[in-house]
Amino acid sequence: MTAEIDFFHLDLRKFLAPEFVFGENARFQAASYCKKLGGRKVFLVTDAGLLKTRWVNEIESGLNDQKIEFDVYSKVSPNPRESEVMAGAEEYRRSNCNIILALGGGSVIDCAKGIGIVISNHGDIKQFEGVDNIARPMPPLVCIPTTSGASADVSQFAIINNKEKGYKMAIISKAVVPDISLIDPVVLTTMDDFLTSCTGMDALCHAFEAYVSNASSSVTDLFALKAIKLLNENLVLCLNDPLNIQTRGKVMLASLYAGLAFSNASLGCVHAMAHSLGGYLDLPHGECNAILLPHVVNYNFDAAIEKYSHIAHEIGWPGNSQISAREFLFEYLQNLKKELRIFSTLGKLGVTDEIILHLAEKAIDDPCNATNPRPPEKKDLEDIYHAAL
Ligand SMILES: [Fe+2]
Repeated sequence: MTAEIDFFHLDLRKFLAPEFVFGENARFQAASYCKKLGGRKVFLVTDAGLLKTRWVNEIESGLNDQKIEFDVYSKVSPNPRESEVMAGAEEYRRSNCNIILALGGGSVIDCAKGIGIVISNHGDIKQFEGVDNIARPMPPLVCIPTTSGASADVSQFAIINNKEKGYKMAIISKAVVPDISLIDPVVLTTMDDFLTSCTGMDALCHAFEAYVSNASSSVTDLFALKAIKLLNENLVLCLNDPLNIQTRGKVMLASLYAGLAFSNASLGCVHAMAHSLGGYLDLPHGECNAILLPHVVNYNFDAAIEKYSHIAHEIGWPGNSQISAREFLFEYLQNLKKELRIFSTLGKLGVTDEIILHLAEKAIDDPCNATNPRPPEKKDLEDIYHAAL
């Protein structure tokens, strides 16, 4: 096995990304972008936790300075629910807004996307589940991500929790790509350690799944592998020095790279299984990913040996016969979880044999399986859940 990495593919692939501004204090451009996009009244979507930070006040001051009216919607929970999307759309209409500004992590941005879909397309958010089911474009959407992991601010994905059926719906369409993302590492400094760890593992998972995806390309490979390298070098450091903007910035850049990669190459079994698991038990998305990723790598390995070996090289696999790339990756991911203080297993989170049957039933229908390098059967997903107990 050689450490040399060949990014060259000749398969036809497109690449889509929104306009984004990356760097310290990018958030201060929110009001002027809202104005440029024709914003008369802004629907500011955020959550209760962020209302306590200075970020919301700063955005409101900027909008006041530009004389743009706004309405704040903060009834968004982690794993945003379809009812929150529908209530948000109702409030948007009632307050006669014409642009959406999302300040938050993946949950807030996904909820904002859901609101935008319903505003333009009417009907219930559940109708738009799946790939390319959105006919009309959303109102303009400006995003300021406050976590470094979900990358909903650059992606073609929106994930909404269907509480009634107990799973997360994946909505995948270029209609949900925001108009502009203002990616500012300064806002990461109010994340606690657990959120830093979970969202960082989400970003790592995006990069892993995009890199081995059967829809990957020369362009997505470049972003995915660089994201893995940056996360390997910087994620744990954020826990020791959470106010360090340089380190936060590198993890934010990694999240952006991973987001660009997965938005275009799509994902795999980890996300299919995490959508089912997180929706059923209302668990943090990144925690679900962190638990499942080592076991999915183990399951997939033989279907993407070369690519997984590239990843292993990137994070320090010596490439000798002492330890195989498969073993190296499995141990690396298990150790990384411990360093990030994620100690849960599915068993500790309350998953039982009976629950696994339900989880696999839902997970097998998730569109993320379509790009997994090894096409799974339902029984395979049950086995992976069991391995993670
Ligand atoms: Fe994710």
